[in-house]
Amino acid sequence: MDRVVLSSPNAEDLGLGSLIEIKTFPDTENYIRITEDCEKKDVVLIHRCYPNQDKSLVQLFLALRQIKEMKARSVSVVVPYLPYARQDKRFLDGEAMSSETICSLLNLLGCKNLITFDCHFLKKTGEFTYAGLRITNKTMSGEIINYLKSKSKKAVVISPDEGAKYLVEKDKGLSMKKIRGRYNDSVERYREIESMSLGHDISNKDVIIIDDMISTGSTIIKAAQACKEAGAANVYCAATHGLFLNSSLSRLHALGVKEVVVTNTIHSPVSKIDISNVIKELV
Ligand code: R5P
Repeated sequence: MDRVVLSSPNAEDLGLGSLIEIKTFPDTENYIRITEDCEKKDVVLIHRCYPNQDKSLVQLFLALRQIKEMKARSVSVVVPYLPYARQDKRFLDGEAMSSETICSLLNLLGCKNLITFDCHFLKKTGEFTYAGLRITNKTMSGEIINYLKSKSKKAVVISPDEGAKYLVEKDKGLSMKKIRGRYNDSVERYREIESMSLGHDISNKDVIIIDDMISTGSTIIKAAQACKEAGAANVYCAATHGLFLNSSLSRLHALGVKEVVVTNTIHSPVSKIDISNVIKELV
């Protein structure tokens, strides 16, 4: 066999590949061991990088370097949710472009291809080269929309902003207009949403709001509120990545949203859409 699929313990639930060893030293530093023979093989490593993104990224860097040391012919990685993908622009002089740094480090460490899902800064699917790194960006929007359409066949599909428009294009969906305010001055860097408008008649219709991610929940909650105010019959909320910070999952339920669903790129109580079949086809 010329191909070896390896999996980190944090991706064991996906049921793909032989496990690598990851342990933690008493001071919390990472210990990595690869026991599979990688020599002259095309190796694919599946590794989640959320939660604990800083720690998981260091684990990935150590594993990549080790697999190269073991004379692999090539190494590709599957990172279902790519962290640090949100700062791909400089708003102020001197700001670190985190997305570029992470991708160029992966490239420098010999990663031939990064396979990921609904990468925040790419905003479309396909093959890209970014900061020297080859990236395959897959979407889970088809699977998510199919799942929700099995509950409400005629539901209108809506993206809460222009950035997520590509998720609804196939279903001829609508896009809301979201305007964010300025970044705040506190230690936690965050921009409030100033306004969210729909501009279409959705009264008495079921709607599926779909985004790449639910982080603090501000976007999807505002979008769900706008749809309810516009007279939607039932509101379904979905995303590929469910971080659900600030109790956003329970806030969505409290709002009367019919169902919230995300994939298992990140574990959550509503991670009902499985990414493993898509990964299996690629590795
Ligand atoms: C925005 O550009 C993204 O597509 C998401 O709408 C956003 O990142 C979600 O973040 P939050 O849940 O914090 O509003």
